[in-house]
This record gives sequence, C-alpha cells and structure tokens, in this order.
Amino acid sequence: MAATGLPPAAASGRLLYGAAAMKENLAEDPLYRDALVKHCDIIVPMNDLKWEALRPARGEFSFEDADRTISFAKGNGKAVRGHALCWYGGMPAWTKTISSRREAERELVGHIEQVAGRYAGRIPSWDVVNEAIAHDPAKQGVWRDTVWSRHLGPDHIDIAFRAAAAADPKAQLVYNDYDLETNDPREERRRNEVLNLVRRLQDKKIPIHAIGFQAHLYAERTLDPDGMQRFVESLKALGLRILVTELDVIDWRLPAATAERDRRAAQHVETFIAVLTATGVLEAVITWGITDRYSWVHETFKRKDSARSRPLPLDEAYRRKPMMDVIDRLRR
Ligand code: XIL
Repeated sequence: MAATGLPPAAASGRLLYGAAAMKENLAEDPLYRDALVKHCDIIVPMNDLKWEALRPARGEFSFEDADRTISFAKGNGKAVRGHALCWYGGMPAWTKTISSRREAERELVGHIEQVAGRYAGRIPSWDVVNEAIAHDPAKQGVWRDTVWSRHLGPDHIDIAFRAAAAADPKAQLVYNDYDLETNDPREERRRNEVLNLVRRLQDKKIPIHAIGFQAHLYAERTLDPDGMQRFVESLKALGLRILVTELDVIDWRLPAATAERDRRAAQHVETFIAVLTATGVLEAVITWGITDRYSWVHETFKRKDSARSRPLPLDEAYRRKPMMDVIDRLRR
C-alpha cells in the first residue's frame, strides 16, 4: 500500500475530514479560522498552490501566500494536501505563450520540481494532474484540449507524475477529476477513461496512488452506487486508494425552503460517501470550503430565484447543518 503521509486513517479505521481554505477568508474572518481548526484533520489551500498564484511570470515563483496558508494548517496540527501541479485552469496569462513540445515539457517539469520539491515532507498528498479527461470523451476525444495536451498529448500525464515522484518520492500522487458518480453514459465513459489513465501509467511503471473524486455533486442528479462501486473495485484491483477532494452540493435546482434543501443535500452526501466507505479504500473526505458564507457555487451555479446556495457543512453563520452530522457519523 502506498504511504499517504496523511494521518493514518486506514490504520485507525477513522475517515479523515478536511476542507479547502481561502487565504482571503483566513486573513479576515476569525470564525472561519476557528471552524477549520475545530473540524478539520486536513486543510487544502484552495487557490494558493495553483500556477496563477505561484507563477506571476515565467521563471518566477512566489510562495508567500501558499506558505501562509500552510503555516496556518501546520501550526494547528493539520495535514495539508496540495492542489494542483498540472491543470488547465488557474493559469497565468504568460503560459499562453508556450508554443512547442520542448518548451511545454521544460515548464511543466520545472514547475513540479520546484513546487513539489519545496514542499517535500510538508505536503504528503498532491493532486498531480487535475481534469485531464475531456468533459465528454465520446464527443470531444479522450483528452481535454489544454496547453499541456496540445503540446504534449497524453504524455503530459506521464511527465507530470514522473516529475512529482522524482521531486517527492514519499508523496501520495493523485489523479483528480469530476463527474464520476452518476449513471449518465458520459460519466460512465469518464470513469472508464480514468481506469485507462491509471493502466497507462502503471504499464509505464510510473507511480500513481489514488484517485480523487472532486464530488461537486448536483443535487438533482441521481447517483449510481453500482457504477461507482464497480469503478472503485477496479481501482482497488489496480492497487489504488480513493479520496473525496472537493465535496459540495450544487443546490440550484432544489426548492428554496432551507430546511428541505439542507436535508436533501445531506442525504445526497450520505448516499455518496456510504458507497465509497463500503469499498474500504476511502481515506478522506474534503469539502470545498466549510461554510456557506464562502463558496464558488454561489457564482458558478446561480439559482433562478437568486436565493443563496447552501453547498457546505456549516451555514453562513457557522451553524452546523445536517451535512456536518453525516460527515461526523461517517468519521466514527
Ligand atoms: C475554484 C475555486 O473554488 C475558486 O475560488 C477559484 O476562483 C476557481 O477555482 N475544480 C477544481 C478547483 O479543481 O480548483 C476549482 O476551484 C473548482 C472546480
């Protein structure tokens, strides 16, 4: 079994809980800091480890914000996960000028060497590649069109994992993606492409240790427990573990009444996590934020009635919601 470096969840049988944290909220909101300290085993810098934050210009690295978030986590005894070494989003404008295979490989490897190398021993688990599979592989081809796939094809995945393993041989190396949980044929294909991606790396003897389910769950979609279970059993057979890395509930199509919305969101999360815990290889559940006060869901998935979305385990006043009870129950 791959060493995760995260607190020994499997050994204790306890599921770890964590949340992604935003530097702006950490700086300004003491209640936010308290909530993270009180509830989390793991903290993920939500945006501070993205290229946009770390790489103001070619050849430059700026680690101050990431360091601040990481010291907050460490200072409070929390483990840290890193997000993300290779992604198409959150990229600084200068990366648009990358124009050849050789240049792309040099930039990608250089970035991963510096970043994963700098945090070796402090960030035990990394999203090495995020969202490399196309939204709809049947219509768009397997790989998402990105600066990395344009110049390097699927080799960019091999290159990224190899570089991460070299920079921090002890880190847990994760492939992270979304829409892996319903019986929509599109999601079924995405699950198959994740399996192909794992086999591709393993055939080349490149290490990969876990798959991250982002789990931005649409409350109106029906989960596919059988499909999820088959998928995780196949991953297990390949020796992989799983993580829930960015959980929240997109409640834009749910009725406005808050109690009803919170109940349905919690139920959805419970069904989802119960399927994964039953597989025995789920290490952690991480929500993408902790309080409804701050969430990307407000802007990205706006409700028609303009009621505020309620995607996370604590409400906007830091009161526990049924979702937190579900998480606590599953942690025991
Ligand atoms: C989002 C953050 O939550 C926002 O604060 C930021 O402005 C954009 O990115 N999938 C991912 C995350 O892997 O990095 C994204 O996070 C949400 C979707």
